[in-house]
Amino acid sequence: GAMAMGEAMPDAAALGLARGLPLPELKRLPLERKDGALQGCLTAAAVSLPLLPGKPATAFWAYNDSVPGPAIELSEGETLTLRFDNRLPQPTTVHWHGLPIPADQDGNPHDPVQPGQGRDYRFSLPAGSAGSYWYHPHPHGHTAEQVYRGLAGVFVVRGRDDPLAHLPERWLVLSDLKLDEDGKIAANSDADKMDGREGQFVLVNGAWHPRLELGRGERQRWRIWNATSARVLKLALPAHEVWLVGTDGGLIEKPRRVESLVLPPGARAELAVTGRFAAGKPAGLLALPYARGKMMGPEQDKALPLLDIVAGGVVATASLPASLRRIVPLPKPSVTRRVVLSEDMANPAAMFLINGKTFDMDRMDFTGKVGAVEEWEIDNRADMDHPFHLHGTQFQVTERHDGKGWRREPYLAWRDVVNVPPEQKVRLCFRQDMPGPRMFHCHILEHEDAGMMGTLDVR
Ligand code: C2O
Ligand code: CU
Repeated sequence: GAMAMGEAMPDAAALGLARGLPLPELKRLPLERKDGALQGCLTAAAVSLPLLPGKPATAFWAYNDSVPGPAIELSEGETLTLRFDNRLPQPTTVHWHGLPIPADQDGNPHDPVQPGQGRDYRFSLPAGSAGSYWYHPHPHGHTAEQVYRGLAGVFVVRGRDDPLAHLPERWLVLSDLKLDEDGKIAANSDADKMDGREGQFVLVNGAWHPRLELGRGERQRWRIWNATSARVLKLALPAHEVWLVGTDGGLIEKPRRVESLVLPPGARAELAVTGRFAAGKPAGLLALPYARGKMMGPEQDKALPLLDIVAGGVVATASLPASLRRIVPLPKPSVTRRVVLSEDMANPAAMFLINGKTFDMDRMDFTGKVGAVEEWEIDNRADMDHPFHLHGTQFQVTERHDGKGWRREPYLAWRDVVNVPPEQKVRLCFRQDMPGPRMFHCHILEHEDAGMMGTLDVR
């Protein structure tokens, strides 16, 4: 049970939340082609959705009345114009997590949209940007609450020559739901503010522990989003054959056979999953035990079932190409920086720090140059895992230090989130191709709100 410091969360049985329903398909955002762009509308507003049988509907905040928000799908080279309206009682933004788009379209905390106001977001998707992204609010100090109340949706960019286009796709959005006894979305406890929020339920596409049919021998392409506030999910499909084929910023070079995969908050993965239903092994998708150094709450010490998988008929296994795409390593960096993550539990006003400082909207922490390759060393001197995220571009992790020594990253991948456990360091390289302020922060959303964030000013 997930109880923390005298805080009792009602369990599933008490709430009567249904499980085992078919995996919901994500709703799609309708897009219309006009003046050379795809146009759509997104509204953030309160909505009540029936969740618990025999209880009043649960009040969420949602994009276009849907939790998760409507999925947006475009192709490389296309331009999106999106009308956004804020009908929430708080300022908000729409942040396009991971997308290489101009800073003034990125929905960062420097550009809030006030309640009752709106704006257009307009950007083009450059060649090479195919991948699995997402969108969520990013106003200063309110990001965690707006996301846990239901505001988040996925954004997929299709490649022109997709070597996996022949595989059927499943999109799985993992989110976290914490309810009180009345079935209302619970406010954050002190433990949530410290550790990052965890609820009673990890949902898949808005449903608790739903069910999916997979043919025996059938190979599918799964895109998985960790849209929880704070959970590091160590995903496993013990019965099945699983290959990692993509990360945040799209396909990797060659499929890699994996037994499990650590997906930190904010990160995405693409998997090629083949239904094997090995006898004696659980057939579903699990989150294996993972300790992330929490200060107050208990660690996840049991495997958490996320999705039931039932065996369908025998299906011929589709091929998996040996080579997916070429990723060119970034050239030698011209700038190197250190980013030290720390905690100061004695200072409640500034508990989560980057290079000893808490976030200040009026301070630029670093100044960078358009087109320059930078290497950042992220050094976690704190007691908890902190998933590090950078806006505006994708990066390549080059080396990791596990406390004993540096180890070369075994494969090239484009990412925008990397988990950094306590006493460990990560080196990553990137290039910013557009000017403007770019945020970097911990993607445990409570830590971001508490100030574990900085700004890189690119000129
Ligand atoms: Cu997903 Cu700065 O955020
Ligand atoms: Cu953190």
